[in-house]
Amino acid sequence: MKHHQLANGGSIPALGLGTWKSTPGEVGPVIREAIRIGYRHFDCAAAYANEAEIGAAFQAAFAAGDVAREDLFVTSKLWNDAHREADVRPALEKTLGDLQFDYLDLYLMHWPVALKPGAFFPQSADDLLSLADVPLLETWRAMEACQKAGLARHLGVSNFNARKVEELADQAEVPIAANQVELHPYLAQDDLIARCAARGVHVTAYSPLGSPDRPDVLKKSGDPDLLAHPVIAEVASKHGVSSAQILLAWAVQRGTSVIPKSVNVERMTQNLAAASVALDDADMQRLAALDAGYRYIDGAFWAPEGSPYTVDDLWD
Ligand code: A2P
Repeated sequence: MKHHQLANGGSIPALGLGTWKSTPGEVGPVIREAIRIGYRHFDCAAAYANEAEIGAAFQAAFAAGDVAREDLFVTSKLWNDAHREADVRPALEKTLGDLQFDYLDLYLMHWPVALKPGAFFPQSADDLLSLADVPLLETWRAMEACQKAGLARHLGVSNFNARKVEELADQAEVPIAANQVELHPYLAQDDLIARCAARGVHVTAYSPLGSPDRPDVLKKSGDPDLLAHPVIAEVASKHGVSSAQILLAWAVQRGTSVIPKSVNVERMTQNLAAASVALDDADMQRLAALDAGYRYIDGAFWAPEGSPYTVDDLWD
């Protein structure tokens, strides 16, 4: 497996397994199988509500001698309702307890959006706190204290636009190792990647397959089907691989890491193998031409009427 370097030392495997939407009951066996077929990078989050089962599967894999903790790269994320200084460490400790780990390899701030404690998702603007109430720097400083206490090797952010990355990087004591954002050929985000690179921030691509199984509430009429795009199918047939493998190879070749979710062993195997599919310049140019600035996960759910957040401000 290729690795990408992280600015503050160490590296991240270029391809990992996403666990968003992997349900309790199914995710445990999926983790065991993924380890057996060679996955070493796992992307988790408190908000996915499946970390306890993932932790039990890791423990079972260690006990069976399938893999050792130090051979894994595991990411988790701080949910938006724990952005206040006093809430950050308890949230990280809950995740560590669920995963049965002493430390995470990477801990991310899941969104640059704050919710009132206990509000999982905004039912109305009343559930949201503004960034004036809970500045991103307050949350980051508390994350830094956790990193210094050894609870996470690297810290990062998710769903940050370039301006927010730069503002935080200017003040961060522990460097921002990574920014995890939606990335695929319809949303190539060249400018964001370049501006992150200028600050030594590695970029991880989520929803690389266009997240076809995202919940209905996140679906918009007319959303394009990325996996069915004819150009991607043509490049796939040229290389004798699947469209999904082309999407993943494109991500790895651009220097991003990528975390496709699957709960199917054949597709997991196929996805892992995609990290070694080599695309040529012509392929990369054809895929670059598909960029339409199109987001499947547009963040509109943070902007109910009266919200301190707007979609434009999230992504500008
Ligand atoms: P499944 O879990 O049944 O394999 P994303 O990572 O962009 O969120 O996409 C995840 C979705 O893509 C899931 O519905 C997953 O289904 C599906 N998927 C994962 N790998 C492949 C693949 N190689 N080919 C087609 N669909 C895939």
